Amino acid sequence: MMETAVSLDRTALASWFRRNRERADAIFDSVRPEAWESRPIPLRNPICFYEGHLPAFAVNTLVKRGLGRPGFDEKLEVLFERGIDPEDEAAVPKGASAWPSRIATRAFGAAAERLVLDALAQADIADEDNPVLAGGLAVHTVLEHDPMHHETLAYILHRLAYDQKIRPAVLPAPRVGGEPPVRRTVRVAAGRATLGVAPGEIPFGWDNEFPRLSVDVGAFDIDVDSVTNRDYLEFVNAGGYEDESLWDGEAWSWRSAHEVRHPLFWELHRGAWLWRGMWDLIPLPTAWPVYVSQAEASAYARWKKRRLPTEAEYHRAAFGTPEGPERAHPWGDAPPDSTRGHFDFAGSDPVPVGSFPAGSSAWGVRDLVGNGWEWTSTVFAPFPGFQPMPSYAQYSADFFDGKHYVMKGASPVTAKELIRRSFRNWFRPTYPYVYAKFRTVETAS
Ligand SMILES: [Fe+2]
Repeated sequence: MMETAVSLDRTALASWFRRNRERADAIFDSVRPEAWESRPIPLRNPICFYEGHLPAFAVNTLVKRGLGRPGFDEKLEVLFERGIDPEDEAAVPKGASAWPSRIATRAFGAAAERLVLDALAQADIADEDNPVLAGGLAVHTVLEHDPMHHETLAYILHRLAYDQKIRPAVLPAPRVGGEPPVRRTVRVAAGRATLGVAPGEIPFGWDNEFPRLSVDVGAFDIDVDSVTNRDYLEFVNAGGYEDESLWDGEAWSWRSAHEVRHPLFWELHRGAWLWRGMWDLIPLPTAWPVYVSQAEASAYARWKKRRLPTEAEYHRAAFGTPEGPERAHPWGDAPPDSTRGHFDFAGSDPVPVGSFPAGSSAWGVRDLVGNGWEWTSTVFAPFPGFQPMPSYAQYSADFFDGKHYVMKGASPVTAKELIRRSFRNWFRPTYPYVYAKFRTVETAS
């Protein structure tokens, strides 16, 4: 066997894995026992699935597919293998008729944890002769898969009734802020944007991040701040949800079928708009970014006679500079930290737009990373030269169906390990549950 070409820091990987497990435990501990099998979002699996899915994915990907070692519970490793993303509720697969008990699921998780930690400590986890393991591919696949699901779980639990959740002992008061900043736009000059990344350029990326793609982007004007609840309220009050001409056909069908009349995170109580936070209903914070589906964001942009940015325009606004060279992050090449934006589990809900001047891009555009993902108008598709990743071949390929749109940036509950220029997220345009905001652009005349 060849020597392992990439030397991985086993201690660091094990502590990352433990950190992930601890965060997952804290999330699942916030669910009351009677709600454990509930399904707060009808288009996703019940909560209990995810408690088994994270350890099952680690065993299936690293231990079995990667190292070729046996698992320890074939039935549960299959049951918890994959999540779902059906078109509508009628297409929701019939899940298990009976899920294992919470105790059995936790025992499964603990056994999986031992197996994975043992592999991280001793196995040839970066075997260059094995495409699943080479460069630490399977290990990183597992380590980044966990925090992605922590975010999924957060927005799923967001929909759970308050009396079915256990509040954290210490809960900081929401940073409501005052009036939103005055709405401004800024011109982004024409130039090139680099999407994706070349193989070997970063320690790990998901398959859809490769290879590198250089795109010419024309000049455009972009909102300095994300669209706020205050801005969006004008659209609601102006009858935006009743005006079919503002909506794409499919978006209008969704709006009509579900009688959508306002953002999912808003609730109307005795004539007053409230924000449904993770832990409390509070008066609608006007300075927070509005969280909406891509369909709603597009309708708003059309009402403003503007449009959503493309993925390339997002890159240009976030990472481009007037001088030419591109940056790793909007603020420069320094790693993400708490001064740059609202991310990495800094809170459960948003903060006022423009709260992080130190995170602004070279053009002065704010909050491009953090405080909610940013919707784009770009259909999720592979870059030319795409190849499915050996450690998780279905990861992206199953979603190149023309029915998902790219989101960029980060939300308050996106782990800092996932914050990099090439990272891409995607959802159906009518999926309203995610922590996603938007801003609008106009082609420069
Ligand atoms: Fe998953």
